[in-house]
Amino acid sequence: MRKFRWGVIGTGKIAHTFATALKHSEYAELCAVASRSDEKARDFAEKFGFSEYYGSYKEFAEKSGAEIVYIATPMASHLSDAWLCLENGKNVLCEKSLTLNTPQTEKLLAFAKEKDLFFMEAMWMKCRPVYRKMKEWIASGLIGDIEYIKADFSNFIPYNENDRLFRSDCGGGCLLDLGIYPITLTHDLLGVPDEIISSAHMMYGIDMSNSILFRYKNGAFSSMDNGFEIQLRNNAIISGTKGFITLGNWFHCTDEGILYDRSGSEVERFVRKDDINGYEYEVDEVHRCLESGIKESPLVPHSDTVAVMKLMDQCRAQWGMKFPEE
Ligand SMILES: NC(=O)c1ccc[n+]([C@@H]2O[C@H](COP(=O)([O-])OP(=O)(O)OC[C@H]3O[C@@H](n4cnc5c(N)ncnc54)[C@H](OP(=O)(O)O)[C@@H]3O)[C@@H](O)[C@H]2O)c1
Repeated sequence: MRKFRWGVIGTGKIAHTFATALKHSEYAELCAVASRSDEKARDFAEKFGFSEYYGSYKEFAEKSGAEIVYIATPMASHLSDAWLCLENGKNVLCEKSLTLNTPQTEKLLAFAKEKDLFFMEAMWMKCRPVYRKMKEWIASGLIGDIEYIKADFSNFIPYNENDRLFRSDCGGGCLLDLGIYPITLTHDLLGVPDEIISSAHMMYGIDMSNSILFRYKNGAFSSMDNGFEIQLRNNAIISGTKGFITLGNWFHCTDEGILYDRSGSEVERFVRKDDINGYEYEVDEVHRCLESGIKESPLVPHSDTVAVMKLMDQCRAQWGMKFPEE
């Protein structure tokens, strides 16, 4: 495989983590980084070894040699940042949640198709070995038909008015930041629900915590709790007619999945420790797609990104939650 010239937009927390994975990939060339500040761009470039840096996203998009760009800015900026990259002929891996709502997501994905460029939501959970093993177990019929899913993602995060998480103008709130993981898991395994029952604790114009139930006509249901106000273990259980699977704490990035039979006896345990920090699988998936010339990852297809966004829109509608530009 050849090397791919990576660019990064935004120099915040996750950009540092992702750049660490890039730095360790033998197929990634650290080409360029963009920040709103020259100084931050230079520091980031020096820290990781990017050869170019830009103090403006626009200048980066127009002038840099990057061919694939990882976008790590707040949700409210994803549409314009990703658009800028596509307009300038760059492939895109954009952080979740892809945009604020379904119309924005559909507009962006249509533009990527029009430009014939690779585009993927950075749903790293779906690229991870334990997640893929869980799907293999289910596809092989080892737990039978899924009847119940329970998945949580709630951390105690002290309120900070400057943090994007608590700012409606940045696309804040726990649904788009954390709830997207349990919803993506549920949608991936059970599809679009027939009924959504949900409630949120709203404060500062965002959902500080929420509780979501998806119900299906065949009787299956999924229960999901997300938030910034309480700490949960954030594990998941997927229970079916023949057995069940547990995904360890922090289910979206766990290194352990266990398959049980219906009586609760362990059948198989799959453990896979990360070689770097867990983002290497997503990097590998992007390289695999670029190498083979496909514009969409089969692990994170555009149709799933849109479907999950529609579900999140429906939850927000139940709570009367809108972002400033809506
Ligand atoms: N995959 C994962 O595991 C994971 C984990 C955490 C977050 N995320 C996602 O990654 C994205 C960024 O999250 P983060 O936690 O890294 O956020 P963060 O630490 O706040 O960093 C965001 C960066 O975006 C840039 N930015 C552009 N416009 C901004 C604005 N109006 N306000 C604040 N920053 C702005 C800033 O970089 P410059 O100043 O350099 O321009 C900032 O450092 C979000 O979409 C989030 O959902 C994913």
